[in-house]
Amino acid sequence: MGRVFVAGSINMDVVATADRHPRVGETVAGKQVLYFPGGKGANQAVAASRLGATTTLIGRLGEDSFGAELRAFLGAQGVDLSFVRDTAEAHTGTAIITVAQADNTIVVIPGTNGLVRTEDVGAAPLSKGDIAVSQFEIPLPTIAAFYQRARTAHATTLLNPAPAQTFSHDLLALVDVLVLNETELGLLAGVELSDGDDVARIIAVARGLQVSPDQTICITLGRRGVVALAGCDELIVPGRMVQAVDTTGAGDCFVGALAAQLAAGSALRAALAFANKAASVSVQRMGAGPSMPTAEEVAALI
Ligand code: RIB
Repeated sequence: MGRVFVAGSINMDVVATADRHPRVGETVAGKQVLYFPGGKGANQAVAASRLGATTTLIGRLGEDSFGAELRAFLGAQGVDLSFVRDTAEAHTGTAIITVAQADNTIVVIPGTNGLVRTEDVGAAPLSKGDIAVSQFEIPLPTIAAFYQRARTAHATTLLNPAPAQTFSHDLLALVDVLVLNETELGLLAGVELSDGDDVARIIAVARGLQVSPDQTICITLGRRGVVALAGCDELIVPGRMVQAVDTTGAGDCFVGALAAQLAAGSALRAALAFANKAASVSVQRMGAGPSMPTAEEVAALI
């Protein structure tokens, strides 16, 4: 049984709820302000841990009250925090989120996440069978160093390139499993893709991005489910219709669940189906970190 190591961001999400999103330059009356543990890295680690994987998070927190609250929350979820350092150089990462009609807009202020360095990932005790997970809320050179270490240890690397930004072919070549949505895929491939594009077109674009036949690319399509390229195989897992209240962190739930399943030795199709169900549970609750399901909740859907 492998373990999950997540090198990534830890944020306090400051969430305003409203009936609708304001247009640029407009003010709307909100309903509530809520504080939720978040950050793509932390959310992925919480999902993996709640779903039964032995999970270690690598990152940085500020020496402030958000940092202390986040450390307490993550520890209570069973996430190993021995590689999460406190630093006085910056404030804890913070995300300002507006949620209206289940959709969100997010502004992230990186704070200490921008200080996660190659030496933070250098001591990660990765070994064969482990899954090394990252996303784009920590510096790219740190992610590259983490994956190089994972490759040396014969661990599997899983990248969620969100928030989307272009990155080097060298980093892409270090990725065994790429998990992204259609917008992120479009940006990386240099083509316009939207949630209305048919699956055949999305698969064709993903195939153009694949650096080798060994690389797996999973494209999450929200309500439409997920499609994946694994070698020459194309897998399609349909979505699950649910009443969403807040989609914040749903992609992170999918990534954490997929990592937990792969660490447990599940085949890709089963892992994707499980992760899809896990994400469908998370969108029915408010918040990112606290919305991640347990293994029992997902098992009840299978
Ligand atoms: O993916 C959702 C996450 O993005 C939020 O928790 C927020 O912190 C931002 O990092």
